[in-house]
Order: sequence, then C-alpha cells, then structure tokens
Amino acid sequence: MCGIFGYCSFLKEKTRQEVLEVLCAGLARQEYRGYDSAGLGIDGDKPGETFFFKEVGKVAGLRKKIAASSVDVQKSFVSQVSIAHTRWATHGPPSERNCHPVRSDEKAEFCVVHNGIVTNNAELRLVLQKRGAVFETDTDTEAVAKLIKYIYDSQAGKSITFTDLVKAVLKELEGSFAFVFKSMHYPNEVVTARRGSPLVIGVKTDKKLKVDFVDVEFAGQDNDAKVDSLQPQSPSSMLAPPSISPKVLRTQSRAFMSEDGLPQPIEFYIASDAAAIVEHTKRVLYLEDDDIAHIAEGELHIHRLRRKDGDQSPSQAATTRSIETLELEIAAIMKGKFDTFMQKEIYEQPESVVNTMRGRVNFDANKITLGGLRAYLPIMRRCRRIVFIACGTSYHSCLATRAIFEELTEIPVSVELASDFLDRKTPIFRDDVCVFLSQSGETADTILALRYCLERGALCVGVVNTVGSTLSRETHCGVHINAGPEVGVASTKAYTSQYIALLLMALQLSEDRISFAERRNQIIDALHEMPAQIKRVLEQDAGLQQLATTIADNKSLLLMGRGYQYATCLEGALKIKEISYMHSEGILAGELKHGPLALIDENMPVIIIMTQDSLYPKVQSAFAQITARKAQPIVLCNEGDEGIPKGAKTIRVPKTIDCLQGLLNIIPLQLLSYHLAVKNGCDVDFPRNLAKSVTVE
Ligand code: F6R
Repeated sequence: MCGIFGYCSFLKEKTRQEVLEVLCAGLARQEYRGYDSAGLGIDGDKPGETFFFKEVGKVAGLRKKIAASSVDVQKSFVSQVSIAHTRWATHGPPSERNCHPVRSDEKAEFCVVHNGIVTNNAELRLVLQKRGAVFETDTDTEAVAKLIKYIYDSQAGKSITFTDLVKAVLKELEGSFAFVFKSMHYPNEVVTARRGSPLVIGVKTDKKLKVDFVDVEFAGQDNDAKVDSLQPQSPSSMLAPPSISPKVLRTQSRAFMSEDGLPQPIEFYIASDAAAIVEHTKRVLYLEDDDIAHIAEGELHIHRLRRKDGDQSPSQAATTRSIETLELEIAAIMKGKFDTFMQKEIYEQPESVVNTMRGRVNFDANKITLGGLRAYLPIMRRCRRIVFIACGTSYHSCLATRAIFEELTEIPVSVELASDFLDRKTPIFRDDVCVFLSQSGETADTILALRYCLERGALCVGVVNTVGSTLSRETHCGVHINAGPEVGVASTKAYTSQYIALLLMALQLSEDRISFAERRNQIIDALHEMPAQIKRVLEQDAGLQQLATTIADNKSLLLMGRGYQYATCLEGALKIKEISYMHSEGILAGELKHGPLALIDENMPVIIIMTQDSLYPKVQSAFAQITARKAQPIVLCNEGDEGIPKGAKTIRVPKTIDCLQGLLNIIPLQLLSYHLAVKNGCDVDFPRNLAKSVTVE
C-alpha cells in the first residue's frame, strides 16, 4: 500500500509554500497507508520543470527538509500542478533513491507517483534496458516512468496527447495500480489512472457546477492510440520498436464547468483515500478501473481504456461519473469508516489475501511462482528438514500450515518459538532450511534466532510483511506477504497473509511431484474462492457483536479444536486475551481427557471448532464429552452442516478445503475478540503493556 496525492490549481494565484502545505497535509492524512518515505514534485521555475523533495520516513521529516531547502517558496503562480506520495515499500528498500515521484530520466521529462504493484515490471525493465534505458531505482514504478518516455520519444515529431500516451502505457501493464503523471512536455497538465488501486478526485470551485457528473469518453479500438506490444510474446517482438497510430483521439467527453461557462478559479485534489481531500472539498468523484482522467486548463475529462469488449462491471460501463458529496468527518477518516485500525484491518482481509497472491498464483494454469525463492528451490527440496521459527501470531501461522507443508513436500517440518529455540540452543545444520516468519521483520527474538541459524550454515528464508526490515535484509531469500501496513497491535490480516504465503511456498516446493497434482489443483481452486468467502464471514459481524455481549462478563473462555484447527484455537485465544484482557486458552481437543476436562462445568464458556474435515468425528466425541459435563459450547461449524445438535449456539462459516478452513475460521474469532474488547472498554489498537514491534528480547 502507498498513498498518492495530486493537486492542481488553476487561475488562482498561490505561492509554492501554499501548494507544499496542501501536499504535505494530503500525505499526512494517508500516512497509515505506508510511512517508509515521502516525496513530492512541484512546478519549477521554467514551464514544465519539476522540483522534487524526498525524504525517508514520515511526512514530518519531509516537512523539515522542505523548510531547510533554498527553493524560493514565496514565488507564486497562477496555475500549478503537483504530485506527492507516501510509500509502503514493495520493490526496493525504503531509501531516498526509491522515493516517489519517480522520474523517467535525469531531466525528469516525465514523473509519476504510484500505488500498487506492476507485476510484469521485470519483463518491462528487461525490454527497456535492451533499448538503452538505465535504471536508477529498485522500484517497479520506474519501468512505467521510462516506458512513457520511450513511447513519447518514439513518436518524435508527431503530436500525441498526454492522455493517449498514458493509454499506450497502461496497455502494457499488468498488476494493480493508481498513477498520477506529470510531464515537462505537458506543462500544467496531469493524467491520473487506476486499475485495482483506489483513486478519488476532489473538485473545489467557488461557483456552482453546471452538471454534477462528468461524461466518460468510451474511445473504441479504432480511436485508441496503439503501441506495438512490449509484452514478451517472443524475443523478437520484445525488441520491435513501438509505434503509435497517429490517429487523433476524438474527444467526446464533456468537461464539467461552472454554470456561467466562463473560466474560473478551480482546484482538483487527487488521492488514494478521500481522507486526504475532505478538508478541502466534499465534492468528489471516484474513478473506476481503467478510467483515465486528464486535468488541464481547469477542466477534467475522463477517458476509458477498453481492454476487452464486455469485460466491465456496470459501474465501469456507465457513461458518466457522478460527483458525490462526502459525508465523512476528518477526525473519523484516518481509519476510514472504522472505529479502530484493528477493525479496519480485519475488514481488509478480502483484499489483503488477494495482494498476497497477486502475481504469484496463476489460477488458469494452476501454477505458483514465488520469484524470491526461485533460485533456492533445488536446495529447499533437497534439505533434510524445515524449521519454522517465529513468535506470537506469526508462530501460529506456522502451526496452521505445518501439516499441509509436510503433506505436500514430504519433508519433516518443526515449528519453533524463537525464544525457546534459542534457550534450547537447538541443533541446526548446514542441510537445514530455516524459515523465519514476522510481520514487522524486527522482532528481536526472531532476528537473534536468524543470526544463530546463519552462523550454522543453514539456508535462511524470510516471510515478512515489512519490506526493508532487518529480517528481510538478513535472510538469504524470502517472500513478502504484501498485506499492507498493519497498525493495530493485534495482528489480524498479517496472520491470514502469512498463512497463504506459507501455503504458496509448500505448493511451489511440491510442484515436481506429479502424485500431488490433483491435491494442489484443489487447493489452488479453493484459494480462488477465498476472498469472497472471507467477505461472507465478515457479514456475520452483527451476530458476533451480540454473542460478545453474552460472554463479556465471564472471567475465562476456552477454545477447543484439533488438527488444522488447533492453531486457530491458539490464535483466537491470543486475540481475545491481548485486547480484551479476558483469560482465554486454546486447547487441543485430543488432550481434553489429559487435564483440561477438569475445567469444564456449566459456567465455563467454550467455543468448539467443528468444521468438516477428516477429524470431524473425533471433535464430535469431544463435544459429547463436554456437554456430558453440562458445558453449553458455542459451535463454530460449516454452513449447512446438519450434524450439529439442535439447540446448540452456532457460528457458521463457508466450507473450504481442509487446509484452508483455518483462514475462514479465524475471522469470526478476530471479530469476537474485537467486540469483547470494546464491550470491556479496552483500548483496542493499543492494548496495555504491548507494542506493535517487539524489538527487545
Ligand atoms: C499478536 C501479535 C504478536 C506478534 C508477535 C510477533 O496479535 O501481534 O503476537 O505476532 O509479537 O511479531 P512479528 O510478526 O512482527 O515478528
């Protein structure tokens, strides 16, 4: 995740200082989207020229840098366009070099800010490098900046609009993105476009607008600017020079204007989140995927990139984009419509699990590609054992996936708590593979365990959310889970993304085993359904809130399950205890008779996980044992399961394949823990005594 921001002011005398203030405020409001670095580009002294300010870390640092610069901030302009960015690193560590805006070349003929991931970045880089491009950053965005210049240069002498150029670029891109482009060749213009990442434009005028919508121009294939494919269909096509049809785009779209139709001062604000706009104007329009908005001379025009006929949702196909009135209040919007970051992050999971899989799972070919592991797969396949090492929730994601990892790879897997692993001075050898899981990548115990394993010559693999963190830097190779920034101290979306990342690793490692092909295909098919199924579980929030009110006064809550669901019980219990301060314990149902059964009576609340897998009959017998001791368990089970005794309180979740069921089962427990904490008056995002990143032993 990153936050992008653009500001265009027309016919209104403004100093650079005023513009910089708008940009920094816009970034600060989106800082939750990433705070690895902040940067901006404003108009320079010559027409089209851009001055850049960039700084690693938060917007406060960028403000200091601006204050210390020698740029004449009192200089004023009648019209100005500017772009800005706050970064959550995905390609390349947080550094000034990798800060946005990213430029096309030394003269910054084009510059761009980007939110998302261009998944064919490596191929594009290669093609552009073969054509002489020299890259100066590690970002995927630079391929886009260089590509637009490349296409522009190849049109030497022919006039091409900024919009057509961007269209030609977008046709070459895969992945998800929102961009704002600015260029020396198109002074006082910006083009902004999206596919997969959010984008909203705010409009501020003193006068009434003539219409409350913007017409969308659906340029047919014939009208579109064309560029020969840069995609690597064949090595020769990769080297073929691109050419753009000189056809001029027929502009049918109506820009909106004031009632009197006369030029007037007007300002446009472009952002990833309306939170960054609402303090300036409440009039906004949301762009749809493949919309391209061109802002120039006080006008806004929206064009459509048509990739495949008929391949659009009704809202994309609509011929207007209406101007809506935001109902948000500034104070509430940092967390969007949510009360806390934890709640927001729970609700982000349908999207964050997709981000973990994006560019890695080919659902058509049933193939997994984890680029960061490719070179190490032979070593991993030959190793004598795999050791997962982590703390807290990250440890639970290891437990949750251990069985499927062993099944698919046929390599023994042990799961270690980092602190205990070190306390025991666990023997580690050169032919071991050690996998380190961490959301923050900065957990002290996990880093110490990593260094211990590095010293003993094991291959060390990182599974990390935070790009550029110590763990991601010090491991030999690894996978970023791409869940986006997790702010709430209680880990939620990182758990589900770690779970999926480990599963993808197991799937890829087992790819050479024909006998598992069918099982692998079933799992990949089930992964495809996962985002929609998570959404369905989230719809039960109101019921879980109600359930929380019936439990909140108890001192303790037991969670019981076995097999894949033991990890779910441990993770659910951790969530409950850390944010609601209620004692909670995850119990392996197979261990019930060896002690925990003594806790059971009519007053002890129990949640028993009875989703349908091969261990279902055994969990049924645990259910019978506790109900015989007068417990009245709440049963977490599958939708439509008729085998649950009548009268039992249930939490119903969709059914998926056994090894993925834990992803769906944890969601109601996250929601329940959240509501228990709220009911108990706890500070959900900042539970007492805890911190998001545990950098001490
Ligand atoms: C619980 C939680 C912690 C972390 C643990 C490891 O909700 O967040 O248990 O999982 O401190 O942190 P990372 O994953 O950053 O190494």
